[in-house]
Amino acid sequence: EEHRVEKHVSFSFDGPLGKYDRQQLQRGYQVYSEVCSACHSMKLVAFRDLEAIGFSPAQVKAIAKSKDVPSLNPDTGEPSTRKGLPSDYFPSPFPNDIAARAANNNAVPPDQSLLAKAREGGPHYIYELLTGYQEQPAELLKHFPDAKTPEGLHYNPYFPNLNLAMAPPLAADGQVTYAPGNPKPTVDQMAKDVAAFLMWAAEPKLEQRHRTGWAAVIFLLVGTGFAYFSYKGIWADKK
Ligand code: HEM
Repeated sequence: EEHRVEKHVSFSFDGPLGKYDRQQLQRGYQVYSEVCSACHSMKLVAFRDLEAIGFSPAQVKAIAKSKDVPSLNPDTGEPSTRKGLPSDYFPSPFPNDIAARAANNNAVPPDQSLLAKAREGGPHYIYELLTGYQEQPAELLKHFPDAKTPEGLHYNPYFPNLNLAMAPPLAADGQVTYAPGNPKPTVDQMAKDVAAFLMWAAEPKLEQRHRTGWAAVIFLLVGTGFAYFSYKGIWADKK
C-alpha cells in the first residue's frame, strides 16, 4: 500500500465552479488521436462533437477526412472503408474483441467514451495510471515472490489488480508535438491533457450542470428568504 501514493493533480474542471480549458481539451484530443486511438475505441463521440471544444467546422471536416471509417463498397457490398465525415463517430481500431485481444496479450482495451466516469477517481485515476508505471518494489517480491508481474504485463500500483496489459502509452517527452503557444509536451503534461479530454468525452455537459446547480441553489436561497419574511409578517402581531 505504501507504494500507492496518491498524486495530487488538479484540473480546471474540479469543484462546483470548475470549467473546461478548451486549449487543454484540444491537446488532449491530439494525444487521443495520435496515441490512444491505436488501441482504444471511442464509439460514442462523433467528429462534429469536437466543435464543442473549439475546433472550427473546417478543422472538424479536415480531422474527419484524415480518418478512415468502416463502410460498405457501394458497388459490391463488400466491407470497406471511406474517408470520415463530421457526422461519423470515431472509428474503432479493431474489428472486434477477438482481434483486440489477439493484439493486446489477451486483454481488450476498454472503449474510452465513458471511461473517465466509469472508474473511481475518473480523470485523476487516468492521470495517475498513465504516469504511475514503475518497477515492482523489491520488498513486495521478497514477501510475495508469486506476485511477480507475469511476462507481457506491466506493473502499475494505480491499476486495481496491479498488473496490466497496456505498456506505458506515454513513454517519452515530446511524443506528440503541440502547436506553438502550448505547454511543453512532457509525459506529465500529455497525461493531464488526455485525462481532461477523456473527462470531457464522458461528461460534455459538465459546465451546464454546474451552472444549473448554482441557479438551483440561488433560487432555493431566495425562496427561503421569502418564506422567512412572510413567516415574520404573518406572526408579527401575535407575540
Ligand atoms: C487499459 C488509457 C493507450 C492498450 C487502459 C486503462 C486506461 C487506459 C485508463 C485502464 C482501464 C481500466 O481501468 O480498466 C489509455 C490512454 C492511452 C492509452 C489515455 C493513450 C495515451 C493505449 C495503447 C494501447 C492500449 C496505445 C495498445 C498498444 C490497453 C489495453 C488495456 C488498456 C490492452 C487493458 C489492460 C488490462 O485490462 O490489463 N488504457 N490507454 N492503450 N489499454 Fe490503454
